[in-house]
Amino acid sequence: MPFTALWDSLLPLGRYAPTGGYRRFSWTEADSACRAWFNDQALKRGLRAACDRNGNLWAWWDCPGSACGAIATGSHLDSVPDGGAFDGPLGVVSAFAAIDLLRERGFVPARPIVVAAFTEEEGGRFGLACLGSRLLTGAITPEAARELRDGSGVSLAQAMTAAGLDPGGIGPDQELLGSLSAFVELHIEQGSALAGAHAQLGIAEAIWAHGRWRLDFAGRADHAGTTRLEDRRDPMLPFAATVLSARQVAARHRVLATVGKVVASPGAVNAISSSVSAWLDARAPQEQALDAAVAKIRLTAEREAGQHGGRCEIQRESFTPRVEFDPGLRDRLGRALAARGITAPVLPTGAGHDAGILAASLPTAMLFVRNPTGVSHAPAEHAEAADCEAGVVALAAVLEELAGR
Ligand code: GLV
Ligand code: MN
Ligand code: MN
Repeated sequence: MPFTALWDSLLPLGRYAPTGGYRRFSWTEADSACRAWFNDQALKRGLRAACDRNGNLWAWWDCPGSACGAIATGSHLDSVPDGGAFDGPLGVVSAFAAIDLLRERGFVPARPIVVAAFTEEEGGRFGLACLGSRLLTGAITPEAARELRDGSGVSLAQAMTAAGLDPGGIGPDQELLGSLSAFVELHIEQGSALAGAHAQLGIAEAIWAHGRWRLDFAGRADHAGTTRLEDRRDPMLPFAATVLSARQVAARHRVLATVGKVVASPGAVNAISSSVSAWLDARAPQEQALDAAVAKIRLTAEREAGQHGGRCEIQRESFTPRVEFDPGLRDRLGRALAARGITAPVLPTGAGHDAGILAASLPTAMLFVRNPTGVSHAPAEHAEAADCEAGVVALAAVLEELAGR
């Protein structure tokens, strides 16, 4: 099936019309529509559809008689709140389209090829990015994962049970991992380096170290119209100082620091908050710079909270060290593309990916598709159809190289 037709079949699922963005959160109705779409695409192609114990989806192009590990490709179908259409889905759609292209050409694989769609890559519901691949590889314990809660207090275990899955079965799956020999994730570029280099495609070099921290500022609720300024213990003030400090520290340490989510409780316009919870996302090319920056932001938060008569508790919710993609696999991709006249510069990225988590267990690589504005995690995220089609051609070439005779 041509890329555009396949792309259009997924596009309406989980779209939130008022913003034009996507709300594809794991184990919701939108997620279940995306899962049905995936299984339907597998069925249409005669691929064997499977859902692993962690809720990750797989569509196998089996290769009877081959004892070789499979080449996995794909990405994820979930989104950040009001995310763009491309982050994740582009990799899954391109994987199916690349298989179609290979079959049209009569390609016969010498080892299995499998399309994957990992659960909750964005952490959009349960707060932990790459949840499905972390569970698969053992980067989070099943006990900790089962207890993750969404914004309404629903646990992952409850959400999986409601979706008809057994949360008792989640956890590392060595048998599945052992059946894979490499994973290649195609993804929209989340920056504009390729646009600047006039290149349609790129190859990933590394993923920056990154993590998420939860900051809970406690204060004292009181009346906005009657409490004298000197009597207040307003947690909003240390929160605000911390956000400003994060920006300054980031600039000084040449890292990125973002507070993209904040919850003030109880949330009355005419009352001082009793508490403010905020989430810090911080990323850096090197772990040392990240540690130093986060330590400074932490100090500011604690000091400012004390100065305003409150306190701040800080908890690291996730951390992923810098990941260097397998150099041998990366070079092989580069050579396979170059042999077909495809230029693909090698780029680092500050965005997290399942390929980064799987890199601890097997050789992984990534292909990037040009994003003209670089905007991502937002409705304006975009890639031109011609670049997506070039991505499919490149992915097919890579699969041919890795799974061919
Ligand atoms: C996922 O896309 C992330 O980088 O947070
Ligand atoms: Mn992604
Ligand atoms: Mn993302």
